Amino acid sequence: MGATPAAPAKGGKTDKAAEATSGTIDITDSRTGKSYSVPVLAPGTEGDTTVRAMDLRQVKVKDDEFGLMTYDPAFMNTASCKSAITFIDGDKGILRYRGYPIEQLAESATFLEVAWLLREGELPTQKEYDQWVHDITYHTYVHENIKGFLTGFRYDAHPMSMLCSVVAALSSFYPEAKHIEDMAQREISIVRLLAKLPTLAAFCYRHSKGLPFIYPDNDLGYVENFLSMVARMSEQKYEGNPVFVKALEVLFILHADHEQNCSTSAVRAVGSSHVDPFSAVAAGIAALYGPLHGGANEAVLRMIGEIGHPKNVPAFIDEVKSGKGSRLMGFGHRVYKSYDPRAKIVKQLADQIFKVVGMDKDLEIALKLEEAALSDDYFVSRKLYPNVDFYTGLIYRSMAFPTDYFTVLFAVARTAGWLAQWEEMLNDKEQKIARPRQIYVGKPERPYKSAVTNKFPKTRK
Ligand code: CMC
Repeated sequence: MGATPAAPAKGGKTDKAAEATSGTIDITDSRTGKSYSVPVLAPGTEGDTTVRAMDLRQVKVKDDEFGLMTYDPAFMNTASCKSAITFIDGDKGILRYRGYPIEQLAESATFLEVAWLLREGELPTQKEYDQWVHDITYHTYVHENIKGFLTGFRYDAHPMSMLCSVVAALSSFYPEAKHIEDMAQREISIVRLLAKLPTLAAFCYRHSKGLPFIYPDNDLGYVENFLSMVARMSEQKYEGNPVFVKALEVLFILHADHEQNCSTSAVRAVGSSHVDPFSAVAAGIAALYGPLHGGANEAVLRMIGEIGHPKNVPAFIDEVKSGKGSRLMGFGHRVYKSYDPRAKIVKQLADQIFKVVGMDKDLEIALKLEEAALSDDYFVSRKLYPNVDFYTGLIYRSMAFPTDYFTVLFAVARTAGWLAQWEEMLNDKEQKIARPRQIYVGKPERPYKSAVTNKFPKTRK
């Protein structure tokens, strides 16, 4: 393996000039007979090899043409950045944050420790951790006008629509956040987003239920304070069920980052225009909302509800395979092709929770679905395994969260990853405004000839 290429850490810069290569690939263009030598970048820490797409631009038939581009819909084979934050090996089912295995972090870390790790690259010292927790705790309040904003939503507004809108609105409360080159502004925006996301998420819940908003309690930890803002009624002091608090902490850690997924790419792309981080994170929330991404946890429970009974599982599986019905939600992943390590942890967590609160009524359907899919050639041959969303919905429901709220929980946790990735993108001097190319397949040039004779029928005579 060649030298490890420079990867941008927090505050660091990628140095393209110093970039190591591990050889070259020779390309001969059969149209012209010309040969080109394209450097192969030195493998990343875990062995990925790449060539720079821009090195292909020199391949031309005529001097004045644009040059060869790569065509890669949905970025199936394109690295959009170098990142030192999260590593996934989809074939082996490995997930690590900054080198630490997800299993160890889920077992022993706190969510705020992980949020620090993702951003800073190292685990915090006790002093750093105490300051970090203090800073987050003391920025959990939101401007009172946010409440007015939320009450403007209809009672049945989807909580993800509300969350996306109020996070975007926060940018108007902190106009100074647009000074992203100012490290102090960057710092405070990151603290504010991490601190206020649980408050906003809880307020969305309370609005849906028609319940009064509950203010943050600075005596509580991050997760317990969130549960307090969601669930507290008339009691003076909220005390969360320790099993639920621990479970949610683990679920937040599992969802904190997942390298260049759809929502993170959205945050990076929108952030690359140098907009403020509140607006960039709102874009991430919008991307996460979709049923093929974070919205899958909600879709899994709806699917299980439609199946209705374990005896209907074989017919449902047949329908999925025929391609006529829906996909098997909570199955399959763009990157994981053996198993999703998060799903393994979530399943163990579900067992622990169901021991405390009793078995979820639909667990049998979920188990039957999993068993049927894992022994069916359609799913096995396509390497479709349960992903993180398959069992999270059942856990969230056992904690009494409504189905349409599940993705909000995902968004609160993923904010940590979005912010770390956003900052890494800003610190990477190779990054510019995201702007893909296209292959134009529309009409060639033609003269304008309108068929409309009266163009302003109402407004002008
Ligand atoms: N059920 C049935 N068939 C499926 C499924 C599924 N869940 N997922 C993929 N396939 C089939 C698909 O029809 C295709 O078959 P064929 O080759 O015959 O056309 C083949 O598997 C490859 O699928 P693909 O759409 O090319 O794969 P992708 O990498 O583009 O999609 C995915 C990944 C996650 C969008 C997809 O597996 C899916 O739609 N899963 C269900 C939604 C879901 O659970 N999403 C949560 C992802 S994990 C949480 C997160 O990080 O967001």
